[in-house]
Amino acid sequence: MPRLLILGRQGSGKGTQCVRLSEHYGVPHISTGDILREAVSAGTDFGLKAAKIMEAGDLVPDDVMLGIIRDRLAEPDARAGFLLDGFPRTSAQADGLAELLGSLGRALDLAVNIDVDTEVVVERMLARGRADDTEEAIRQRLNLYEEQTAPLLERYRDEGILVTVDGVGTEEEVFARLLATVDAHT
Ligand code: AP5
Ligand code: MG
Repeated sequence: MPRLLILGRQGSGKGTQCVRLSEHYGVPHISTGDILREAVSAGTDFGLKAAKIMEAGDLVPDDVMLGIIRDRLAEPDARAGFLLDGFPRTSAQADGLAELLGSLGRALDLAVNIDVDTEVVVERMLARGRADDTEEAIRQRLNLYEEQTAPLLERYRDEGILVTVDGVGTEEEVFARLLATVDAHT
């Protein structure tokens, strides 16, 4: 069962495709955005803090995110494989993940970049209308993506595990491309 990072700009379809990939490969879909939104709905102290950060389109601190991922990857269902969606998105998170996986004796199979241009993702997010899909928060998220997350693509390319899939087309078309690419490389 594969251990995959699903990378790509906000709105590129990571969450949409991970639902299908998770079912196909029988591995858990671990979305840090979904985990944070659950904390927000639960109304915990942490959830209240996270809600403010998310509404502004800013990033939750790296140490907090690493703690969440450490706990989640320790669960039995993530032992054989997983899909990480929305994590890592900074170099500190990528360092932390590498260290964590190393200590568990596990390695990533592939980092899959779902490629969709900025203009297209902005349209998709404005149509979706999640709490953080305001023009201002979208702009901030995309700026942070270019600054902090896009450089990770180079890192995984250097490690020889990066593949890029065109994310424009119907959901079915993109899914078919993802399966073909993942199966060809794992
Ligand atoms: P997160 O939940 O990860 O949101 P995001 O980064 O803004 O990414 P999206 O979920 O918007 O993109 P997606 O690629 O999943 O697209 P989707 O499938 O929904 O994070 C939210 C916030 O949490 C962050 O801003 C941050 O504050 C915090 N956070 C999370 N992780 C963190 C971390 N590691 N460190 C620090 N902070 C963190 O698709 C988008 C839309 O397009 C949908 O409406 C969908 O139906 C539609 N769509 C999908 N595919 C297609 C297609 N092929 N054609 C047309 N429409 C499509
Ligand atoms: Mg998502």
